[in-house]
Parts: sequence; structure tokens; C-alpha cells
Amino acid sequence: MQSLQQKASEWSGVAGADAFAIDETNLFEKLGLQTFVDLSTSFYNRQERIVLLIWPIPHLRLGTLVFDDEEQWFRSIFATSKKEDAIRNQYEFFVQRMGGPPLYSERKGHPALIGRHRPFPVTHRAAERWLHHMQQALDSTQTIDPDSKIKMMNFFRHTAFFLVAGDELKNPATKGAVPACKHAASKPAAE
Ligand code: HEM
Repeated sequence: MQSLQQKASEWSGVAGADAFAIDETNLFEKLGLQTFVDLSTSFYNRQERIVLLIWPIPHLRLGTLVFDDEEQWFRSIFATSKKEDAIRNQYEFFVQRMGGPPLYSERKGHPALIGRHRPFPVTHRAAERWLHHMQQALDSTQTIDPDSKIKMMNFFRHTAFFLVAGDELKNPATKGAVPACKHAASKPAAE
């Protein structure tokens, strides 16, 4: 049977070595705390200019992401979350996973990403939409250099599909089989 890691690689198109290239440099030291705060704020709260092509005059609309996503099915996944909490949860996790202090675990315990996403429908489609917003957030965060951006996106893409694979564990037949993984480790796991 394929492991969750194998499924994550296959579905994301990102090999494990590329996903965990974030462990080869200390991105927290390189980018600093504020960059991670800006990234997660942008991911959840960024203002997006949407041009509606209504003839004869194009209309400009401002939308905020992810909480005001134009796709209702995706927006509804976050309906029970508070924006400020979601931003903090996310950047504290990223900081700790990318070489910084264990802010997330000190406040909330082990990240246990699959377990914490259990209430949500983490489908292939949801992963692609999440990644779409994350790509835009990365692109709008000026303080992230191109190489770090690629490393981070590979990690995010692999993790997103790891979570999709983990969603299958909701099936009673596979329940309880949550494996150890490098996605949520504070330090890279030993090979
Ligand atoms: C939390 C959805 C992918 C890391 C959440 C929450 C939702 C959600 C609805 C609750 C918001 C909150 O209150 O914090 C999704 C969906 C994904 C996805 C639909 C699509 C695949 C990811 C990825 C990562 C991630 C790729 C990491 C790289 C987190 C973390 C939290 C979180 C750290 C906070 C958990 C907590 O403290 O409860 N996600 N997520 N998520 N997500 Fe995701």
C-alpha cells in the first residue's frame, strides 16, 4: 500500500527531497519573523483587485482572501474560524517549521496537521485552491527572495496533498494509522 508521503509526492508532483529542501537553509533566519506574519496576513486577508468585464465599462471590485473568497465552497471551509486566530496559527507554525522558535507548539502543542484538519473537507480541489491563494500571497510578499519562494511553495504543495491523503483516514477502515511525518516536525526528522 502507498504511504501518505508517496501519495503526497504523486499527487503534488513534488518529490520528497524538494519538499523538504526547506530544511537545508534556515528560512526563519534568512527572512525574519515579520515576513512570516506578512505572508499569513496576506494569505488570509489580502485585498484582491478583481476586474469584472461588464460591457461597456470594466468594473473593479475589491475582495479579501481567503475569508471572502469568490468561491463559496472554499470560503465556507473557513466559516467557523476567526481570521486573527487563523493568521496567528499559520505563521507560528511556519516560523517553527522553517527554523524559528517553537511558537506554535508552546501555545497549542504538537501541530498534528492531519488531525487538526480533520473537521475540514481537504479535497484535491481544496488543496489547489489553497495553493492558488498561497502562491498569490508569496508573490505579494516583497521580502521573500525567488529561491526561498520556490522552496516554500514545494513544501506547501507537498504538505497540501499530504493532507488530502490524510483526509482518507477519516474512512474507518484506515483510522488510527496516522504516521510520523516531516511536515509538522520542528526539526527535520532523521532519515
Ligand atoms: C488551519 C484548511 C492546507 C497548515 C486550517 C483551518 C482550515 C484549514 C479551515 C482552520 C483555520 C484556523 O482557525 O486556524 C486547509 C485546507 C487546506 C489546508 C482546505 C488545503 C489543502 C494547509 C497546509 C498547511 C496548513 C498546506 C501547512 C503547510 C495549517 C495550520 C493550521 C491550519 C498550521 C492551524 C491549525 C490549528 O491550530 O488548529 N487549515 N488547510 N494547512 N492549517 Fe490548513
